Amino acid sequence: MFRLRVSRLVAGAGVRNLVGSELKKLGVSKCVLVTGPRTGSTSYCREVVKSVEAEGIEVSVWREVDREPDEDVFEVCLEFVRSEEPEAIVAFGGGSVLDTAKLVNACYSVGRGMKFFLSPSSQLARFLLKPLIAIPTTFGTGSETTCASVVKVGGVKKGIIHESMLPDTAILDWEIRAPKKVSASAGMDAIMHAFEAYTCLECEKVESGFYSGSNEVTDTLALKALELLSHLPDYVEKGEHSREVAVGSNVAGVALGNAGVHFGHAASYAIASLTERPHGECVASIGQALLEWIEENISRGRVENVRRALGASIDEMRRKVGLPSLSDMGLGVDDIPELVSRAMEVKRLVAMRPEIDEKAAKEIFERALSF
Ligand SMILES: [Fe+2]
Repeated sequence: MFRLRVSRLVAGAGVRNLVGSELKKLGVSKCVLVTGPRTGSTSYCREVVKSVEAEGIEVSVWREVDREPDEDVFEVCLEFVRSEEPEAIVAFGGGSVLDTAKLVNACYSVGRGMKFFLSPSSQLARFLLKPLIAIPTTFGTGSETTCASVVKVGGVKKGIIHESMLPDTAILDWEIRAPKKVSASAGMDAIMHAFEAYTCLECEKVESGFYSGSNEVTDTLALKALELLSHLPDYVEKGEHSREVAVGSNVAGVALGNAGVHFGHAASYAIASLTERPHGECVASIGQALLEWIEENISRGRVENVRRALGASIDEMRRKVGLPSLSDMGLGVDDIPELVSRAMEVKRLVAMRPEIDEKAAKEIFERALSF
């Protein structure tokens, strides 16, 4: 069996100006807009605020998401939201902003702290949260259409996943541009979402857990996403708008949020814990080695389809957009035991491709060091 969870989507050039009318449809009279200090000072953000005010909706802006969310960022944001008592949340920013807003909204709406959502027992219930409108300003994480929020707890990145956290509406506006380096890293993350969703355990073999495993729907979406994301190098290089990259990252997000991802993301958390590099860079640095391992041990046909859709290998894409390799990040053979042990700790993701055991993980990291 499999399930499909997807946010309502409004996509187009300039749709950031429709945030106000979307809130009005929901009967909202007051909202909080969560953003970051830089994104929050752009003209795009002012336009979003203007569209909300134009509908007579009160909006207070919180622009303090200045890094990947940890307990501190989360707590201060939750306190602000509680004091404002909004009827809806608008999240405007990259993955960190969206993830913070999603978890804050869950805690605010249910009246519980972050700990509650970390406990497996909370997963059994479904809660009715305040509506959340997610507007990504970088195209990659797919957070606008997934139930996950990645937060640092005690210095360790944890994926908190809850069906209730799926945003009500995703506003995908491809006129919004992020700096080149951010676009490159986010875009490679999206490519890895599609690749891993397409090569993760088949849904019939998934025994339990949040993700369904790969199936006809996610396979179709993942390949289409890769085809769209083949435009990433041009998008990064030319600095133009790209409908293909924006839609591709969203579609890859739907594939990831339903099929799941596997060792590449488990490895990326391990790499991030040693290097403090952005998520997209970390996950891209393991991509080609993982692709080759899958090709040799799981399915040649699937990898062939990935190459055909992308029109290149993952490593060619990584180099074209100017992201570092594992050794460029300063990692070497001595780091492999630590990387393997940290990656294998992310059991929920490792379980989505269980053939990758410690020995295989070591091989993949070793191969990644050769690129
Ligand atoms: Fe990712």
